[in-house]
Amino acid sequence: KLWRVQAEEPQALASELTEAAALLRNGGLVAFPTETVYGLGADARNTSAVQGIFTAKGRPSDNPLIVHIAHVSQADGLVKPYPPIAEQLMERFWPGPLTIVLPVREGKLSTLVTAGLSTVGIRMPDHPAALALIEQAGCPVAAPSANRSGRPSPTLAKHVLEDLGGSIDGIVDGGATGVGLESTVVELADDLTIRILRPGGITQEDLRAAFPHAVIESADASEADNAPRSPGMKYTHYAPRGELTLVQGEPDQVTAYIRAQVAKSKNSGESAGVLAFEERIASYEGDLVLSCGSEASLEEAAHRLYAALREFDAASIQRIWAECGPEHGIGEALMNRMAKASGNRIVRL
Ligand code: TXA
Ligand code: MG
Repeated sequence: KLWRVQAEEPQALASELTEAAALLRNGGLVAFPTETVYGLGADARNTSAVQGIFTAKGRPSDNPLIVHIAHVSQADGLVKPYPPIAEQLMERFWPGPLTIVLPVREGKLSTLVTAGLSTVGIRMPDHPAALALIEQAGCPVAAPSANRSGRPSPTLAKHVLEDLGGSIDGIVDGGATGVGLESTVVELADDLTIRILRPGGITQEDLRAAFPHAVIESADASEADNAPRSPGMKYTHYAPRGELTLVQGEPDQVTAYIRAQVAKSKNSGESAGVLAFEERIASYEGDLVLSCGSEASLEEAAHRLYAALREFDAASIQRIWAECGPEHGIGEALMNRMAKASGNRIVRL
């Protein structure tokens, strides 16, 4: 079932979402737009509904889910009393692309949501349809990205349909998502330390500006750690079906290298694609050459990345070369996702 939402006003949205909210409340699986990517929602208190998420996505059961709420007071019921810095993060960045990991209150959520951890990631999405849906469903909504596990996250309703059509109850179609990459996940080591477990829509710079006296650390998710702090970071993620290679270096060298590789692929009869910044897009030939926008607007590249990866798949491209971008601001999250999508296949010139 597909519900197209047009309204922005909470009341009009509520009437468009009555059926979707009722399905969620009754244990159904409903995909919905957020400001980051589409989520696959279920009542976070209902174990059989949450089990349905893992089954539909083919998601490993040791990877916990983010719980989405519509009011701060909802978080208070789900987690143990939290430090002032958590409250300040909520005040400053919610609703918005920030997931805060906090100690969970026992018995409030299905244990499948937390994958057996003593903590839970909570976020309040900045999207009118998501907020209206959660509000009307009247329950905390567990929602991972609404893709098959390992695939690029969905930024359009049609991506959800491609991956999960037939295995879920419905999709709320709110058009393209905004940020295009998932939320930033943070934990609080102590009352002065914010540790970034997954870079995302709220950047390190945003956190530093808001908390000039706090220590902002990045957990290196790639380090071989027996108990990764953010369990999801250890799995293959966001990958297109073709072999993606990232190329890093001086722009001229990168362009020359990619051009040569594309020519080689063509000679060996393989289809070749390129993902590049607008500034150099005219330099490339290939079976599919996609622009991720200007290098001066990494927000645009973040917004386009996942849809582009899916376009290479739709065109059955076997080898894909992508230019690397700068790693400041949202560029950190962008390069994190691109590195994962490539399985860390990175050529450094
Ligand atoms: O933007 C987003 O966060 C999207 C939208 C739908 O809200 N959701 C999303 O969910 O990206 P998912 O399941 O694809 O990613 C959740 C990430 C995983 O890396 C998971 O390991 C981490 O959050 N996570 C969840 N609960 C955690 C916890 N208690 N401790 C540490 N990491 C946690
Ligand atoms: Mg995901």
